Amino acid sequence: MKSIIQYSTLALAALASAGPVMERSNSPYVGPENGTLVIIGGNAQDDAIYQRIIDLAGGPGAPIVTIPTAEGSDKYDDNAAAAGTFRRLGAKNVTVLHTYDPKVADTEEFAAPLRSAKGVFFGGGRQWRLVDAYAGTLTERLFHEVLDRGGVVSGSSAGASIQGSFLARGDTANNQILVGDHQVGFGFVKDVAIDQHVLVRNRQFDMFDILKVRPELLGIAIDENTALIVSKNDAEVYRGTYVIIYDGKFWSREGSDLKHLPDSSSIFYFLKDGDKYDLRKRQVVV
Ligand SMILES: *[C@@H]1O[C@H](CO)[C@@H](O)[C@H](O)[C@H]1NC(C)=O
Ligand SMILES: *[C@@H]1O[C@H](CO)[C@@H](O)[C@H](O)[C@H]1NC(C)=O
Repeated sequence: MKSIIQYSTLALAALASAGPVMERSNSPYVGPENGTLVIIGGNAQDDAIYQRIIDLAGGPGAPIVTIPTAEGSDKYDDNAAAAGTFRRLGAKNVTVLHTYDPKVADTEEFAAPLRSAKGVFFGGGRQWRLVDAYAGTLTERLFHEVLDRGGVVSGSSAGASIQGSFLARGDTANNQILVGDHQVGFGFVKDVAIDQHVLVRNRQFDMFDILKVRPELLGIAIDENTALIVSKNDAEVYRGTYVIIYDGKFWSREGSDLKHLPDSSSIFYFLKDGDKYDLRKRQVVV
């Protein structure tokens, strides 16, 4: 009996999450068709990045919802998940939204602020907590709808990784396991795995743990206080240090001659502020 209940719960969860994914599978875009993503590699200190999110949401009056759930705290105050930062920078309509309970996340009452939101920001912590709370619920669907109507979805650290289709470092045991017990993110960008804190934490080789088992994915690893801004197939580095691209190729503004060229299964390269990348062609835009 128990196994039947578990099975049907799983099947229902699969059906619920299949909806939006199937609708979107014919899209010619790897990123969102409408709206913009701001994907930050952790330790987001740069006001210019938060300001960019406010601008993309439509200015100071635009309703912004921040989601602190990844943090795992018992309680959150009104400033959680950068809500205080957005207000300090002039945003006038910022709401902190949180539950750990997917049944609550599936209610209209809980999800209501997302109906009119023009911006969403996911704070840091452990990305699997966002999956456990929101995957397959009305709340997750409304995150996608913020993009559909031209808004901005953003996040830092765990709030960066959750935006990929493959969930990097999704294990509940610790944050060192790249292919963990949670492997599906919210998929605002398809066919990618997104890592964060990459250079500061010496994580530049970790992406290969994922690409060895999922070679079809594009790897994107973002350093701290650095943003990747994505719409349709276009990605652009904004501020900070570097974003590392793992697409099996090598690129450098100095030309493509690398003195010690590793084989294509262990190669990556760096993009910086202003550099642009085509997520569909998987090549740098020069
Ligand atoms: C915030 O935005 C919501 C949705 O547009 C609106 O109902 C509410 O009145 C706004 N609150 C403030 C303080 O502007
Ligand atoms: C994107 O916006 C256009 C124009 O408003 C709309 O027709 C289209 O359905 C939107 N796409 C998605 C995926 O919602």
